[in-house]
Amino acid sequence: MHFLKNSKLLTIVMALILVLSACGSNSTSSNSNSNSSDEEASSDDKEQVTLVYARGKDATGATDAIVEEFMKQHPNIKIEFREMPTDTGAQHDAYVTMLNAESSEIDVFDIDVIWPAEFAQAGYVLPLDRFIQKDGINMEDYNQGPVTAATFNGKQWAMPKFIDAGMLFYRSDMASEAPKKWDDLIAQASELNGQEGTQFGYLMQAKQYEGLVTNAVEFVASYGGEFIDENGEVAINSPEAIKGLSKMVEIANSDFVPDNINTFTEVESHTAFIEGQAPFIRNWPYQFALANDEEQSKIVGNVEVAPLPEGDAGSAAALGGWMAAINNYSEHPQEAWEFLKFMTGPEGQKIDAIEGSHAPTLPALFDDKEIIEANPFFGEEGFQNALEGAVSRPVAPNYPEISEIIQIHVSKAIAGEETPEEAAAAMEKEMNEKLVK
Ligand code: GLC
Repeated sequence: MHFLKNSKLLTIVMALILVLSACGSNSTSSNSNSNSSDEEASSDDKEQVTLVYARGKDATGATDAIVEEFMKQHPNIKIEFREMPTDTGAQHDAYVTMLNAESSEIDVFDIDVIWPAEFAQAGYVLPLDRFIQKDGINMEDYNQGPVTAATFNGKQWAMPKFIDAGMLFYRSDMASEAPKKWDDLIAQASELNGQEGTQFGYLMQAKQYEGLVTNAVEFVASYGGEFIDENGEVAINSPEAIKGLSKMVEIANSDFVPDNINTFTEVESHTAFIEGQAPFIRNWPYQFALANDEEQSKIVGNVEVAPLPEGDAGSAAALGGWMAAINNYSEHPQEAWEFLKFMTGPEGQKIDAIEGSHAPTLPALFDDKEIIEANPFFGEEGFQNALEGAVSRPVAPNYPEISEIIQIHVSKAIAGEETPEEAAAAMEKEMNEKLVK
């Protein structure tokens, strides 16, 4: 009894000691944390912090210019670049592997418009609201499309960098006018193929990857079809959608596209275009800066931009674009925010627009003279219409699974393993099985 009592007491005392020491060490560590971040932010400005910024290779060099300007303005923050796969699906998977393991090896990273909900839900990214409020940033200054795409559970998880919309770029020294309809493109591409040293008539992205989905969305929508309708119902098995898919299959199998078009992502297609290999290409706005880059391009000054050709229902551009976010496990969230704020604020976006032809998510920047001078097409009605009317990819929390279904069957249709009708029926069935609403 006596012994029992004592041992009980001992247990209680030991437990108390444990609790107290745990509290002690917690409070010391949190104190020292807040001390050090206070110091970093105010008194000890010279303390050097190195951030790692991850993204796919930026062929235009705009990212380097943004980073350089940021470091000039923040001598205590050094940005190291971590190059990720340019194929957005491969980049996605690399982040998932890293962040699933709660790695702090990257601080800031780029996010495709199709990922924020998934990344927020998985806890990979830091909610930005407290930073946004503290620095008085008005999210209403931004284009609301990407802002909404990066809002989840009422919080903001990423800051919009630029909007992408699929466009037609053409050689103004070869074609005096852009083709109006897909059939005009077919006629002009066949005719011009081989002229002025070209080897192809048209370049697109037809590899089995995310870019194929965006090309398919454009063909389907230009004939009045859609993958998923506004009520969230699968709608791909319609005569309009099948017509769009058929036109895509026809073009991807034409003599005027490279034989290995099913290996072409943005990189292969933009490289062939700036080397002067084709009069027409479907790509995102950055193509313009790249085509006018003296160091890389053989077609400087000879490129015009137009809306993609029309199907029966008009011209349709897929909506794309990128944002940037902070790794939830970053050891330098405050400095990471400083960089994120600069890159996605007016100064960073201006550099990106001038150096990289990336379309700003801050509409006010479309009135900036220097931006329009560098990208005259930004000021054109066709471009603004394409941006405004751009078609989103299906919105679903399990988007990667939906994308994969589309990638597989569109690839099979292009390869002739399925007819467009069979591909549409298979997509309908599988999407109905997988779609999480
Ligand atoms: C561009 C778009 C992005 C899209 C990708 C497909 O990077 O901005 O949204 O997913 O192309 O390749």
